[in-house]
Amino acid sequence: MKDTITIYVEQQDGERIALEAPTDMGLSVMEVLKANEFDVQAVCGGMAICATCHVEVLQSNDLPEMSDDEAYMLESLPHATDASRLSCQLKVHPDLDGLVVRIMPEA
Ligand code: FES
Repeated sequence: MKDTITIYVEQQDGERIALEAPTDMGLSVMEVLKANEFDVQAVCGGMAICATCHVEVLQSNDLPEMSDDEAYMLESLPHATDASRLSCQLKVHPDLDGLVVRIMPEA
């Protein structure tokens, strides 16, 4: 099993920035984005209550199920799409290798 995966962040111009993320540190995708200085506020620190870590998943292999809390939060966002997720709820796991996300604006 690989202990590092690659997550891609698609920019507005379509360019994809590759981020390496360790799978053995219990990180969330939100924490990986912040560590790489993307503009993700994550005001609630990963509690699924602020939605400032909202991303749209453009490509994935195997995403974890959404919790009720995450689904409820996303439903309250007017600009959420069917592919929206809270990046704090996505744990870095080998199944996420190759994930492509777009960081969503806050409003
Ligand atoms: S960091 Fe607040 S909902 Fe994800």
